[in-house]
Amino acid sequence: MDRRVIEALHEVGVPFRENEPFSRHTSMGVGGPAAVMAFPRTQEELRKTLAVRGDLGVPHRILGGGSNLVVAEEGLDELVVNTADMRHVEVRDDGTVLAEGGANVIRTVVRCCRAGWRGIESAVGIPGSIGGAAVMNAGAYGFSISDALEEIVVYDENGARTEPPEGWRFHYRGSSIPEGTAVASITVRLRRDEPAVLEKEIRELQLQRARSQPGGRNAGCVFKNPPGLHAGKLVDEVGLKGTRRGGAVISARHANFIVNEHGAAAGDVLALLDLMREAVAKKAGVELELEVKVWRPRA
Ligand code: EPU
Repeated sequence: MDRRVIEALHEVGVPFRENEPFSRHTSMGVGGPAAVMAFPRTQEELRKTLAVRGDLGVPHRILGGGSNLVVAEEGLDELVVNTADMRHVEVRDDGTVLAEGGANVIRTVVRCCRAGWRGIESAVGIPGSIGGAAVMNAGAYGFSISDALEEIVVYDENGARTEPPEGWRFHYRGSSIPEGTAVASITVRLRRDEPAVLEKEIRELQLQRARSQPGGRNAGCVFKNPPGLHAGKLVDEVGLKGTRRGGAVISARHANFIVNEHGAAAGDVLALLDLMREAVAKKAGVELELEVKVWRPRA
């Protein structure tokens, strides 16, 4: 890594750490170190961090909540911009909610429901950050984040770009927001309802999720559902539930989840992903597409 990055981050006053393990910043708990991980606390610090990266031309990635991510054991010789410390949430009286990119989705949903605002309650089971959820267009129970979006502010090395969601395209588990662009904040528009009604609904959704999905260290569903099919059902039908590699296991509760049970290495998780994809291709004739992001050193 270019040492000038360290000097420049010092100069602009953005906190950072060197050789910071991804295993500390991903829900799966695997992955080697990032050469430099920066932790901007404000939009201004985010702007400065991305300007440093633009000026020096170093490779970089944006890390949200790390809840949909598997990073290779060798880590990345890159500047990683971790937005976790930008987590301000403002629930306003007019029913709009501004949430910064690093805010936790579940906490944001619970806050909105307690304040009597309906519109994003179905996202109560989605782990990870607001920024990651927006870029990935995360969803559950028929709802996707893009359904509620009113505005989204992103930063790249040229500064801020504010757009209504129509400026971006959103689709099933994806968007046109380019890799390397950081979501600074989103605004959603909600409507009034009774806090007690909303709280009951989110409790039920949480129970439903706990019944059908595993807890522990995982990265959510690892494959996208192919049109008209369910990846979990396909992996289940080829008999892979409970299969282990090192400390990682294909969940016995839901076959589209890999759980890091005890000290799994990234290679264990990647080996299970390959096994699942190959078995479903061979036995069911369906090509599964990854939903989780896999970060490896660039060629
Ligand atoms: N099924 C099996 N075996 C399994 C898992 C599922 O036969 O091991 C069957 C179920 O019985 C059901 C069908 O597959 O008939 C669908 O399962 P489920 O209702 O659990 O939903 P899913 O399609 O597997 C999707 C999302 C989840 C989201 C749930 C609930 C994707 C890839 N997955 O799962 O999102 O929480 O619906 O809305 O779109 C995620 O994005 O990370 C994620 C977990």
